[in-house]
Amino acid sequence: MEIIYGRNRKEQLEPVRAKVTGKIPAWLQGTLLRNGPGMHTVGESRYNHWFDGLALLHSFTIRDGESAHECAACAAAKDPKLTSFSYLTHTCPRFHGKLPDQHHGSVEKTSSNLRDQLHQEKSTKTLETLEKVDYRKYVAVNLATSHPHYDEAGNVLNMGTSIVEKGKTKYVIFKIPATVPEGKKKGKSSWKHTEVFCSIPSRSLLSPSYYHSFGVTENYVIFLEQPFRLDILKMATAYIRGMNWASCLAFHREEKTYIHIVDQRTRQPVQTKLYTDPMVVFHHVNAYEEDGCIVFDVIAYEDNSLYQLFYLANLNRDFQENTKLTSVPTLRRFAVPLHVDKVMASKEWWGLHPPSHFLVGLELPRVNYTHNGKRYRYVFAAGVQWSPVPTKIIKYDILTKSSLKWTETDCWPAEPLFVPVPGAKDEDDGVILSAIVSTDPQKLPFLLILDAKSFTELARASIDVDMHMDLHGLFIPDMDSEAKKQATSEEQRDRASDCRGAPPT
Ligand SMILES: [Fe+2]
Repeated sequence: MEIIYGRNRKEQLEPVRAKVTGKIPAWLQGTLLRNGPGMHTVGESRYNHWFDGLALLHSFTIRDGESAHECAACAAAKDPKLTSFSYLTHTCPRFHGKLPDQHHGSVEKTSSNLRDQLHQEKSTKTLETLEKVDYRKYVAVNLATSHPHYDEAGNVLNMGTSIVEKGKTKYVIFKIPATVPEGKKKGKSSWKHTEVFCSIPSRSLLSPSYYHSFGVTENYVIFLEQPFRLDILKMATAYIRGMNWASCLAFHREEKTYIHIVDQRTRQPVQTKLYTDPMVVFHHVNAYEEDGCIVFDVIAYEDNSLYQLFYLANLNRDFQENTKLTSVPTLRRFAVPLHVDKVMASKEWWGLHPPSHFLVGLELPRVNYTHNGKRYRYVFAAGVQWSPVPTKIIKYDILTKSSLKWTETDCWPAEPLFVPVPGAKDEDDGVILSAIVSTDPQKLPFLLILDAKSFTELARASIDVDMHMDLHGLFIPDMDSEAKKQATSEEQRDRASDCRGAPPT
């Protein structure tokens, strides 16, 4: 796996035209922006953990049935002061103004040394860094999740951990408005209008929970305070001890996972207090409200073995033999009652029965984001089993409990991203985009485009570059609406007449 995980990749700022086989849907016009660790040495220093690698952003521009690829490092990779403890990298959209052609991508670079919260505004057209933002200037958090939620207007909801006040370690939910609010001075950054939405005290002052994402419904926020915890004292001294961030995390399997629900209307935690079995969750899938309950789906592990396996030393050995997860990521569903006796609930936490297990062996989940916080049916994810390295792409139907998959020999897919067709009627009307790395020297890396409904391959755009394995991304559509509308109707007709499905698994 050295070929996939261990090597540094280079920036490639001139677009490289892809060779397209198949047919890219005419309506699919825009930029796929993706991010992942791509540089693992700085000078003589080498990172030990894949997640510590420096962000390398790359993009596929798709226009008129063709595609071009670019790749750019984050500024942090060029600034040694910012490199020592860098961590997972993600992208999320930010909307400047309401005009679609002003969309910029943002790169969330979550630092682990309690020193930097670097957030870079990137041009999606050139990958040029436009602005660097330090979260801490606007909200008192030391760490923030890599998966903020956002609404159609571009308002961002995120949460982070604050340890700035001694003895008051807490989790802070905060909101960044899309634009400068009415009545405020024009020309100022909307970051300055970031507001604290709600704070939740940590159950442990010196060892708050690690969390990578959280869930939202129309009216609530779901936060899991899990027994996978950060040791603040270890983190504070990690740099001088030459230790990495992962070594400051510990899973306490004897403890519970506490479920916090915050009412977005009152900005207060609800009275209902629940806990469940110990688990490790990186990714919430989705959540919604139904019949007096909050239903939320997560990818859960029974331990933290995933972290151990992403040490480069483990990945670069004979990984098939040596990188075995001791718990497989599982799609689990929880249904939390909102209305229980307040007196009881305020006295103690209520244990929640074991949740439903839907499907075993998937990670990096995505949904049709127009269904975020709402009842939904489909999960798109990378397929893994006992190894943390994805080997397939999965579409899981929660309703029928059936799945479709895409896989190919010597191909290593990343997170599958769903892009809806303009005017989509069904939840799965659209395409799946995934950047595929190959270990076959005869096969170039490529952007895979699947029909999201049937999971058949529509096209692949192969590029003659040394592409890195990425983690997350987003698609920013061009807004030439007239051309798109016309193309959409043609595509829908094509699909109706040619809807071959991949076999269920
Ligand atoms: Fe993530």
